Amino acid sequence: MSATVIDGAAIAAAIRREVKAAVDALQREHGITPGLATVLVGNDPASATYVRNKRKACAEVGIASFGYELPTDTPPQKLLALLDELACRSEVHGILVQLPLPSHLDEGQVLGRVPPEKDVDGFHPSNLGVLGIRGREPRFAPCTPAGCIALLERSAIPIAGRHAVVLGRSKIVGLPLALMLLARDATVTICHSRTTDLASLTRQADILVAAIGKARFVTRDMVRPGAVVIDVGINRIEDARDPRGYRLVGDVDFEEVRTVASAITPVPGGVGPMTIAMLLWNTLRAAECSVPK
Ligand code: GUN
Repeated sequence: MSATVIDGAAIAAAIRREVKAAVDALQREHGITPGLATVLVGNDPASATYVRNKRKACAEVGIASFGYELPTDTPPQKLLALLDELACRSEVHGILVQLPLPSHLDEGQVLGRVPPEKDVDGFHPSNLGVLGIRGREPRFAPCTPAGCIALLERSAIPIAGRHAVVLGRSKIVGLPLALMLLARDATVTICHSRTTDLASLTRQADILVAAIGKARFVTRDMVRPGAVVIDVGINRIEDARDPRGYRLVGDVDFEEVRTVASAITPVPGGVGPMTIAMLLWNTLRAAECSVPK
């Protein structure tokens, strides 16, 4: 069997077009331009690139973005005061604090200070909590898990009644994704670094999601023939043939696993482009919710 390769770049482009049309309509009908504030603390080059890409994507769909860059040694009170100020600004509908934060800052305290109605990353405890409650429509789902769900749904892959095995329990991906799959009636197993006999669990998966940050960790023998495999990993491996000296691979050994899976996401071009598309979607929703009823 050779798996269908799920084209995340094409699906993300379709979502960006839908967001742009809705942004235009919001502007035309209500005079509202959605606005996203990005907050970057410190000088981690990867985080700076992510934020730059997010702001560029905003501009392409007509969302205004307001960038704040703070030094690494920013005192907590200063960051919290900025978040309070952004919370009050009516042209800012969404607030994104890029992670990871420098180690002297308390991530839980900072993310808890973003008002839930502007929490377009979906990391506030009240937004994360709602993901796990059946029948409650979440205001904002975290962007990468929301991207995984959108890839499945837009590829017409059924979730209800399937056994989904999620490798990874992070707050950003594994845990919220497991809750979102559960809310869609999957049977969910979460595996993590302390799980024993991992392969016996992954081999039971109808839908296998890898979000552990280990290059090509999932091999052919860990995948049930016909399973759907979603690869969230983005890992650099040395490659002397690439002009950059490295290339990007996922948490899944793509070439091996594509021979047994029924569908698989590539890296790059799978889940990656979906994260920003869902951030735009969430920012649009935040702006739509600000329309007076
Ligand atoms: N760092 C890695 N992923 C994310 C994300 O989705 N949002 C934010 N704010 N920071 C991140």
